[in-house]
Amino acid sequence: MKEYLKKLPEEILNPINCACAVASKNNMQAYLVGGFVRDLLLGVENLDLDIVVEGDGLRFAEDYASALKARLIRHRRFVTATVILEDNLKIDIATARKEVYPHPASLPVVTRSNLKDDLARRDFSINAMAVSIMGDNFGKLVDFFGGKNDLADKKIRILHDLSFIDDPTRILRAVRFEKRYDFRIEPETLKRLKAAVKLGMLEKVQPQRLRDELILILKDKEPLKEIKRIQQLSGFGFINPRLSISKKNLELLSSIEKEVGWFKKVYPERRRLDTWLIYLMGLIDSLDAKKVKNICANFVFKRGEESRLLSYRKLLSKLTQGLGRSSVEPTRIFHLLEPLPYEVILFAKAKYKNQNIQKHIMDFFEIYHGMKICVSGDDLRSLGFVPGPFYQKIFTIVLNAKLKGQVRTKDDELLLIKKLIKG
Ligand code: CTP
Repeated sequence: MKEYLKKLPEEILNPINCACAVASKNNMQAYLVGGFVRDLLLGVENLDLDIVVEGDGLRFAEDYASALKARLIRHRRFVTATVILEDNLKIDIATARKEVYPHPASLPVVTRSNLKDDLARRDFSINAMAVSIMGDNFGKLVDFFGGKNDLADKKIRILHDLSFIDDPTRILRAVRFEKRYDFRIEPETLKRLKAAVKLGMLEKVQPQRLRDELILILKDKEPLKEIKRIQQLSGFGFINPRLSISKKNLELLSSIEKEVGWFKKVYPERRRLDTWLIYLMGLIDSLDAKKVKNICANFVFKRGEESRLLSYRKLLSKLTQGLGRSSVEPTRIFHLLEPLPYEVILFAKAKYKNQNIQKHIMDFFEIYHGMKICVSGDDLRSLGFVPGPFYQKIFTIVLNAKLKGQVRTKDDELLLIKKLIKG
């Protein structure tokens, strides 16, 4: 693995070397673990460093953060910490530990232990490998559970029979890794997964933990594959007992996939898009507003997320009425769409195949979006107007003229204002 590590970019290799120096100074052993090691072997870029320390991980993290001049966040309950570097690179530090689950689906009780126990508590063999970063052992792979072979055989395999019972979020994780890497959940693991689903384990997990896994799935590159597999293995009753995914839903989701792909390709520089929210809108489209409200409360969505999930229904009927005709004034298109989040506009584009709606939305993104006038209050004052509500009226007239293509430059705008006054 030495060669793999040496090929890493400087911004990753430097913090790894620094971790080695800090661990040596403290007489501790430090390892890279989890998804980072998996992706290193797969040749997939992964910038989330995960370090496990045999010894006091929090003490290590404090020294490490000061050596890197980085910010430190401690999570004392789990004896872990996160070091955040200036370029926003995040490094998770954990004390090697053993976990005991007092009840199925509960949070584990953690005690300090060694690397082997730490790897044994993990979800799948492919995520249970470590790489030493210390001295002569730098780059040595530690693989107690056959993770490397499973990677080569493209297998998702749990490490013990109760893995899905202890932590049912692993049901969703298994699907995520299977589809992301085009692997297969191996037969015994699949049997255990189905048994856990049958026991209703997903419904027993704290909803926020399910929410986090669901968001990760919907953020993946091809969430539709994962959605279909979840539908096949467990269904989406863990979001709402009434939720089942119909053929119509699947069509909507694949239309969303197309629209998101189109938008990212045509407008890569536009503001960040929460694509997962659009997929979630598609997933829960068949539920009424009351049920959506319950989901938001149960999953504790952030306020902005909740408002987009809840408001889109009301907004959509307004949109279809406003944009369904072939000829719609540019000002109407602008005033209808400009205040809306991109997620809602793209969802509408995916849901309503009416040609007029499609065209008006495309025009909006292409021509009208973000349009602003150049003249300001100062300009009106220089023209001799006393400030008042009248200013807003003039601005609206100028903006409408601009949307219609009647004025382009600031000079055009001033000319229009002068004409208006004369008139
Ligand atoms: N892990 C686990 N059980 C879970 C969640 C995480 O055993 N329910 C372990 C796995 O070893 C995993 C590591 O914690 O590799 C880090 O978890 P996370 O960051 O969620 O996943 P990654 O494997 O890094 O995957 P991703 O690339 O999606 O971040």
